[in-house]
Amino acid sequence: METSNNPVEVPTTGLPGADAAWLPPRIAECVERVLIPADVIAERIRVLCEEITSHYAREGTDKLTALVVLKGAFMFAADLGRHLVSQGNLEIGTEFISVTTYGSDIKDLEETERDVQVDDTPRNLCGHHVLLIEDIVDQGFTIARIQRILEDEGALSVRICSLLVKDLDHSSAEVQALRDSLVIDFAGFRIPDQWVVGYGTDAHGRFRLLPHVCTVDENLYRG
Ligand code: IMP
Ligand code: MG
Repeated sequence: METSNNPVEVPTTGLPGADAAWLPPRIAECVERVLIPADVIAERIRVLCEEITSHYAREGTDKLTALVVLKGAFMFAADLGRHLVSQGNLEIGTEFISVTTYGSDIKDLEETERDVQVDDTPRNLCGHHVLLIEDIVDQGFTIARIQRILEDEGALSVRICSLLVKDLDHSSAEVQALRDSLVIDFAGFRIPDQWVVGYGTDAHGRFRLLPHVCTVDENLYRG
């Protein structure tokens, strides 16, 4: 998967939860490793905002619509959006799109497609420059589907900003081809092929409010 910028590479093994950050005991017992602590996320967001601002300045665009992919991107979008607006160069509208990507949480290595259900497609994006804000690009089904919808809706441009992009250990030829066709314009971190939670992302609805990106006990996301 191509990224237009240089995402920070996150090593396979972050620090064990207890050493990397203070966590409430009830959460600490579930967390295996803290892959990306909150302060590292905050610093990365500052850099991403500079990249985004310079990109649109180069394009001569001063007005755009941030399209937040719910639910996972809510926290990232809130922090990123606040910084972007404070830089003062862009007038930014906000829209939301809610998607459910069906399938088990854990990928099947031979998986070739997934059903992506989209609720409440925003219908007023014709002629807008859209910045899609996503939490994770994994196999790429979700982002590809949303991109297609935005093109059909007549968006003037669609740029993708994802906090995380996963490096996959194994994937089917179809998934490989799909990922090869995607360009992530603004990627925060490249993470290993592990299930992560926190900073908006979840395991069966849990851990979204955790300030760090972490890995948790396998039993919490399998099944
Ligand atoms: P894709 O369609 O395979 O790219 O999957 C992307 C969506 O699945 C993301 O938008 C996430 O909501 C979800 N997802 C993928 N990997 C993870 C993970 O490790 N933790 C939490 N959610 C994930
Ligand atoms: Mg998502």
